[in-house]
Amino acid sequence: MDVRQLQVSAIKNGTVIDHIESKNTFKVANILHIEDEHQLVLVGVNLTSGNLGKKGLIKIEGKNLTQDEANKIALIAPDATLNIIKDYEVIEKKKVSLQDELIGIVKCFNPNCISNHEKVRTRFYVERKDLPRLRCHYCERAMEREDIELL
Ligand code: CTP
Ligand code: ZN
Repeated sequence: MDVRQLQVSAIKNGTVIDHIESKNTFKVANILHIEDEHQLVLVGVNLTSGNLGKKGLIKIEGKNLTQDEANKIALIAPDATLNIIKDYEVIEKKKVSLQDELIGIVKCFNPNCISNHEKVRTRFYVERKDLPRLRCHYCERAMEREDIELL
C-alpha cells in the first residue's frame, strides 16, 4: 500500500500557499480573510515536511492573490511557496517575495512618525527581503520582522 498520500486533498483551480511556518499559518489565513470565501478552503497545520520539520499550508479554491496580499504573506511567512493550480495541475510555483517599496500595508512602529499622526499612506523601502527589514520613508527608522505590524 502506498502511504505517501496528500495530507490535505488537492484542489481543482486556485492557490496553494505552502511551507508556512506552522505557527504563522493562521496569521496568513487572517491576511487572506478566508472567513469571507465561498468556495473550498483547506487549512493544514503541523504537517510533516522534510526541511521545515513541521509546516502549515492553505489551499483556496478560486483564489488569485493580490499584490498587497502577496507582500503581506512575504512579511509574515518569508519561506512560503505560492502555487497556482489549474485543472488540478501546478501551473506556476514561486517563492513569495517582497516588492522594493511597500505602500499602505504596514504601520510604522515609531509612535512619533508623521505617518501615525497625519492622513498619509505609510511607505517603506525594503532593505532586506529574506529576513525582512523595512525603512520608513518618513522617519527613516528601520523595522525588522518582530516590529512589523500589518495595517
Ligand atoms: N496541490 C493541490 N492541488 C493540486 C495540486 C497541488 O492542493 N491539484 C498542492 C500540493 O498538495 C502541494 C502544493 O500544491 O501542497 C504544491 O504541489 P506540488 O508542486 O505537486 O508538490 P511538491 O512537489 O511537494 O511541492 P514543493 O516542491 O514546493 O514542496
Ligand atoms: Zn516612520
